[in-house]
Amino acid sequence: GSLVHATSLRHIQACPRALIGVSDDGVIDWVLDDVDSASIQDAMISKGWQIEDVDFIELGFGQWIMPGFVDTHTHAPQYPNMGIGGQYELLDWLKNVTFPTEAKFEDVEYAKKAYTSVVQRVLDCGTTTCCYYATLHLQATRVLADICHAKGQRAFIGKCNMDRHASETYQESSPAQSLADTETIISYIGSLEDPLVQPILTPRFAIACCDDLLAGLGTIASQHPDMAIQTHISENPSEIAFTGELFPDCDTYAHVYDKFGLLREKTILAHGVHLKDDELDLIKSRNAGISHCPTSNFHLSSGIANVADMLDRGIKVGLGTDVSGGYSPSILTAIQHASIASKVLAFQASSPPDSSPSSFSQKQLPLSALLYLATLGGADLCGLSSVIGTITPGKQFDAILVDVTKGGVEGIWVEQEVGEELGVQNKARLLEMLEKFLFCGDSRNVRTVWVKGRVVGGAQKP
Ligand code: GUN
Ligand code: FE
Repeated sequence: GSLVHATSLRHIQACPRALIGVSDDGVIDWVLDDVDSASIQDAMISKGWQIEDVDFIELGFGQWIMPGFVDTHTHAPQYPNMGIGGQYELLDWLKNVTFPTEAKFEDVEYAKKAYTSVVQRVLDCGTTTCCYYATLHLQATRVLADICHAKGQRAFIGKCNMDRHASETYQESSPAQSLADTETIISYIGSLEDPLVQPILTPRFAIACCDDLLAGLGTIASQHPDMAIQTHISENPSEIAFTGELFPDCDTYAHVYDKFGLLREKTILAHGVHLKDDELDLIKSRNAGISHCPTSNFHLSSGIANVADMLDRGIKVGLGTDVSGGYSPSILTAIQHASIASKVLAFQASSPPDSSPSSFSQKQLPLSALLYLATLGGADLCGLSSVIGTITPGKQFDAILVDVTKGGVEGIWVEQEVGEELGVQNKARLLEMLEKFLFCGDSRNVRTVWVKGRVVGGAQKP
């Protein structure tokens, strides 16, 4: 059947008649990109495979395989209040809506129930890799790791660190306790015999962490040079101003994280809406990257991150749903809002865009960039670009089977034209269907979801 993936910010490869060989361990063995129905068996034999040894899936009209989505920023314990609180900006929203919701995860039974449905929901949206913030609770964070592990999601899971400026009932008692719990969760997740789930250091944001806590996390980071780190940065003007008061010796917000050794490769900085030039230079020089969360940035009236400028500077960018600052668990919504955000910046720009075709600045993001950010770009941000993000031999099969003949887009437009039997939809039609899916599709169109070759979700599992 058909295969579609973004191999770079500028290029989508669309193969109407692909044949993909995935071995039992979930690794993509080979990909042939133009095979007609009559020669499938010969093609397999040419790869040393026997047709009677394989489970064979043949896609029909309106269906294709593409890489699973990477959500580089979400909060699993905030799903219960998704869609609520849009009247607030960040700091009031945290105090009035979010911290009370997260505090409930002290109850481990509640955490089991909530996280079981959260993880399945995220998988069914086609998100095969997810960077989760849990709460500050050690037990509930273990539960989230166990559930991702059992359901087979590729995930980064972080116990939140926050020892100040949260609330009396929802805040860690000391930096020492926060750091000890962090070490415990790191070794717990490391002991799961499954490299799909990894720990990630998660200082919530600079406001909520005292200097000793940030310094201790910097020490843990230096002991684990490969470990990913996630935090928030420069989301909202009041947050930035308060951060400046708390860290008067740091020139900018980004310098706070840098001072404590927390800005490095695989540091995922959520938002970056109001970053200044020298912060962007610092982030680039440290090889850290940005999780762009446009749904959240609109919903909490935070502003619009200038992703085009980040891309022009060569900064790594992925997409995040940021539930429940964002009100949708689906990366499709983040794609739609990333597109709208880029258009708003383009039509508000005071000067004409750079005429160079290699610049994204002040232009709408093309479909290739949107798909890239949602897949390979997100993978790159988490240090996984050699493992997932495209359907390429040697990578693991983290993929979704999309079906645009089902769900909300069905019937309105999908009419099979003469000659469009299996695999003969041409490249232009395939790209048109992809665009329709990205803008009008939803989880009903995500028929099957695989992580490392294992079926883990989808509207219709085979
Ligand atoms: N900054 C600190 N905590 C949070 C959070 O939970 N959500 C968002 N959007 N920003 C934050
Ligand atoms: Fe967030």
